[in-house]
Amino acid sequence: MLFASTLYFDIMLVLALALLGDALPQPITARSNSDLSLTAQLRLADTAIERYQLLPNDSDFVFNFADTEDLPVATSQNWPALVGVGAAFSMSQLPACSMSFLHLHPRATELFALTSGHVLSEMVPQAGVLDNSKNSTNKQRVIRTDLRAGQVTIYPAGSFHTQVNPDCEAANFTAAFNSDEFAVSLVAEQLFAFSDGVVERTFGGSIAGEDVERVRSAIPVDMAIKVEECLVKCGLGKR
Ligand SMILES: *[C@@H]1O[C@H](CO)[C@@H](O)[C@H](O)[C@H]1NC(C)=O
Ligand SMILES: *[C@@H]1O[C@H](CO)[C@@H](O)[C@H](O)[C@H]1NC(C)=O
Ligand SMILES: *[C@@H]1O[C@H](CO)[C@@H](O)[C@H](O)[C@H]1NC(C)=O
Repeated sequence: MLFASTLYFDIMLVLALALLGDALPQPITARSNSDLSLTAQLRLADTAIERYQLLPNDSDFVFNFADTEDLPVATSQNWPALVGVGAAFSMSQLPACSMSFLHLHPRATELFALTSGHVLSEMVPQAGVLDNSKNSTNKQRVIRTDLRAGQVTIYPAGSFHTQVNPDCEAANFTAAFNSDEFAVSLVAEQLFAFSDGVVERTFGGSIAGEDVERVRSAIPVDMAIKVEECLVKCGLGKR
């Protein structure tokens, strides 16, 4: 009778949880917190049941990337329904002949999926992950992948990574993150935010004085970095 009693227990548990929903203290929607953003109210909600009450419209559960082309990421900041879900999503494209910033996500692992085009990906995992292939024993391991449509790669939280589109057409991708507020850290820009002395010592004195500022001001600020030899190959010229 083990099966039957387990089933009974499950039914009781479901009933108890359903009753708990009814017997909740005052729902958050009835309290005076209207100054808080919807995202903040959702974070303060006592239960998932209250969160559904704060999202009464079925359209609250749809995010439209066509409306957000300049920032193609859905996080709990611009899509409140993600609060409590522990996930975020991106849908975008890497233009022809471009490279994404060398970056990392401090709070999330990323699953990067290519839906069209071609992407060369490089990822450097945490310190101590070494390359044991014959010619480079004891060097930092670099994971290089050549992605085509239908393929997915993984960037564990905190790993450094970048993607290059070496072709003449845009590469379309989607990316899923296991945090609703995954955030981005930009390796070059943030490293060069340190004071000159720190930068000089970090690079063993190989750049110093005015060179530090020269490198700092040369760091690209466009969303995608141009890959010159590809632009020439594709006849795209400088854009
Ligand atoms: C529900 O969403 C639709 C579409 O976004 C909108 O037109 C409508 O006003 C919303 N209704 C409420 C009650 O917020
Ligand atoms: C290692 O180096 C040798 C000689 O330079 C080369 O022939 C070989 O292809 C290299 N192996 C790998 C795995 O890179
Ligand atoms: C890539 O995405 C763009 C913008 O959404 C779309 O216009 C284009 O058709 C897509 N390309 C492919 C090959 O799916």
